[in-house]
Amino acid sequence: MKPLPASKFKNPRARYDFKGRSCAIAGVGAYVPARVLTNADLEKMVDTTDEWITTRTGIKERRIAAKDEFTSDLAAKAAQRAMKAAGVTGEQIDLLTVATITPDMVFPSTACLVQQKIGARRAAAFDLEAACSGFIYGLEIAQQFIMSRTYDTVLVIGAEKLSSIVDWQDRNTCVLFGDGAGAAVLQNRTTSHGLLTAVMGADGGKADLLHMPGGGSRCPATADSVAARLHYLRMEGKETFKHAVQAMLNAAQEALRRCEVDISQIKCIIPHQANRRIIDAVGERLGAKPGQMFVNLDRYGNTSAASVAIALDEAVSTGRIQRGDLILLVVFGAGLTWGAAVIEW
Ligand code: ACO
Repeated sequence: MKPLPASKFKNPRARYDFKGRSCAIAGVGAYVPARVLTNADLEKMVDTTDEWITTRTGIKERRIAAKDEFTSDLAAKAAQRAMKAAGVTGEQIDLLTVATITPDMVFPSTACLVQQKIGARRAAAFDLEAACSGFIYGLEIAQQFIMSRTYDTVLVIGAEKLSSIVDWQDRNTCVLFGDGAGAAVLQNRTTSHGLLTAVMGADGGKADLLHMPGGGSRCPATADSVAARLHYLRMEGKETFKHAVQAMLNAAQEALRRCEVDISQIKCIIPHQANRRIIDAVGERLGAKPGQMFVNLDRYGNTSAASVAIALDEAVSTGRIQRGDLILLVVFGAGLTWGAAVIEW
């Protein structure tokens, strides 16, 4: 393979200088279910208004999967689109990982179900759970396997059927979330520098801020646990909001620092799509220019691990990102977890 030309951007970790190897994003894809649930629909379900949801969150509508459509189905459809864009077949995939908090089942992993659906027979497959930060955790895992020469082609998917764990009687949370999936094929390619750096972080001391109490080994399903509504997600919104802004800001600044890149050099910032006010606060503190932040949560709500993956696909397909552009992804989620990545597209 011919060596990569020198990148315009420094990378203290010098990953892409590693004997001509880089971790390029060869193709992205996304899939959202057909059914649209609008704020007006929610007004008929819980005590809320379009005005409250729009002003507090920026969300206007979200997608809801059909009863017989599962996380692995959404994931497989997004994966097939990413594979088509990358020009790779299932047979070429060495590893696939699905970031999700809504697996089809506790086990086997959703990744194994997706492996079968997309014909990735040779691939190792596992799920990873970092809530809304899962896609960036996945990118970093892919990068490590590619740069260590263990694998050449890794499929990273973020997929969620959050409608299956949302309490549709709780107005505090049910208006926020949606279903969907996004995927990326990462490859050792000589045509693009790809992922320059990825930052990951976590704070288990704040696990209770955003969690689902039931369904695990601590609280297996019983008639009582179901009656107590323990199998739905719970969130302390205000506290979560505060941590989200600070953690995303820190992660983004650390990623930029590592690459010695200034925010003004970033063509497009793709933040986790949880709340418009969080996105604006992070953008303002980062010194982002108007229009630099990519926003699509008005149409999809918070799709957790799928969020930045869906947004990345949309930014690429609508021409917001061109080859050679620098982009910044930044995420935050339950755990707590956070992350950021700089990509030379
Ligand atoms: N409609 C109308 N009123 C509502 C609704 C609703 N849907 N939801 C809450 N309210 C009410 C509350 O009951 C409260 O009323 P009260 O004052 O009488 O008690 C009032 O509105 C204000 O509630 P707050 O919680 O103060 O609202 P806030 O401005 O904080 O917005 C929100 C809430 C949107 C949840 C915000 O806190 C937020 O976005 N938090 C962060 C979410 C996030 O980033 N999560 C992380 C990722 S998710 C993951 O990892 C799966």
